[in-house]
Amino acid sequence: MARESWTSRVGFILAAVGSAVGLGNVWRFPWMTAEYGGSAFLVVYLCIVLLVGVPGLLAEFVIGRRAKRNPAGALARLAPGTKSWGYVGLFGVVTGLVLLSFYSVVGGWIVRYFVASFTGSYFAEPGAYFDAISFGREAAAFQIAFLALTALVVLGGVRGGIEKATKVMMPLIVVLLAVLAGWAVTQPGAGAGLSFYLDFDPTPIKRNPIDMLRAAAGQALFTLSLGVGTMITYASYLGEDNSLAFDGSTISVLNTGVGVLAGLVVFPLLFAFQGGLSDTASGGGPGALFVSVAGAFQQVPYGEIVAVGFFGAILFAALSSSISMLEIPVAYLVDEHDVSRRNATVGLTGLVLVTGAVCAFNPGIFGFVAGTLVDLMLTAGLAGFLIFTGWVLGADALAEFDSGAGGVARALGTPWLWSVRTILPLFLLVTLAVNLYAL
Ligand code: TRP
Repeated sequence: MARESWTSRVGFILAAVGSAVGLGNVWRFPWMTAEYGGSAFLVVYLCIVLLVGVPGLLAEFVIGRRAKRNPAGALARLAPGTKSWGYVGLFGVVTGLVLLSFYSVVGGWIVRYFVASFTGSYFAEPGAYFDAISFGREAAAFQIAFLALTALVVLGGVRGGIEKATKVMMPLIVVLLAVLAGWAVTQPGAGAGLSFYLDFDPTPIKRNPIDMLRAAAGQALFTLSLGVGTMITYASYLGEDNSLAFDGSTISVLNTGVGVLAGLVVFPLLFAFQGGLSDTASGGGPGALFVSVAGAFQQVPYGEIVAVGFFGAILFAALSSSISMLEIPVAYLVDEHDVSRRNATVGLTGLVLVTGAVCAFNPGIFGFVAGTLVDLMLTAGLAGFLIFTGWVLGADALAEFDSGAGGVARALGTPWLWSVRTILPLFLLVTLAVNLYAL
């Protein structure tokens, strides 16, 4: 059977943006920024997106378009005779399952907030509400709902539907975030939040440069869906040759823009309505997004309707990301082990129901998996992909990079390959060592 491919270049870009834009932008980014000191984190993060994220994204694209296979199969096929590269791809398969285990907890929160928005039941006491619902039996129940939605999409039936819906929802998110940000920054007290977010203050970098680097690198990879093989998989469906450099830059800019915009909503609101950041989960931790927007919805006219639109749009963004996480292990079992798509999806979802429940019941484990463990696994995974691109593919990688590229992009090919061979893997391996040391 002929391998599926994207119907258009725009389709590919949208799907990749769909994977990249998700809870990483609107939920994890404000959490990490709050935890690591605001503006300083933003600056380090943006530098890493540009200098490591974009070249890394291009490396995954190159592998995927060249091999036209799932990550494990791609690396094995492009390095014939050496079996061990397949394990790097296999590592990504495991990472996909780890990601989904905690991501589905947050997805469950989104489902719950979406439902609760109709009545506005969390508006009055946002901090207490979040603390009451974030972990435990009810959290697990909503997590199951989110996983079920993810599995339904991956099973095939509504995938086209999700992609079409994403085309509408993505602009909706941007519009809603922009309107909320515009409203938030004019509220009394918002200035302190803006200054925490945007007035560059290097103190947190000086205090703990290593920790900052580790967290910013992890977030940069997370938000671009790197280090797992998602982007390898998506590029494997590319037919005709377009400029990977152009597509990769477009995706990165759109994705980073949504994250930065989310920060412009969360920080002014937290300072205007919740008295700033606090050490609790709801003040500057995983609850920052949920608690901050509640303060706004309570005050704006028709707050319930705005809230329903907001969490509805985020739910779609989360689903278009979570399907890309489940897709990696599913594609692996289907391609490499002849399992039917149905059995693979059902079996793996069952597995994540168990590993995910551990995260839903235990905030400590959740925090560890969502933060440190994910940073570590993504860093290790991308380091593997880069070394593979630079040293195993080598000149072939450059040929693939150049194919379909215009003059400007071509000029970037050689420096790109050079950095993929040397400085970038080195950077990631050092970051990895730091990550391991921090364990
Ligand atoms: N990038 C997505 C987000 O920001 C999450 C995601 C989807 C992801 N697929 C991934 C992260 C693969 C790392 C690897 O929400």
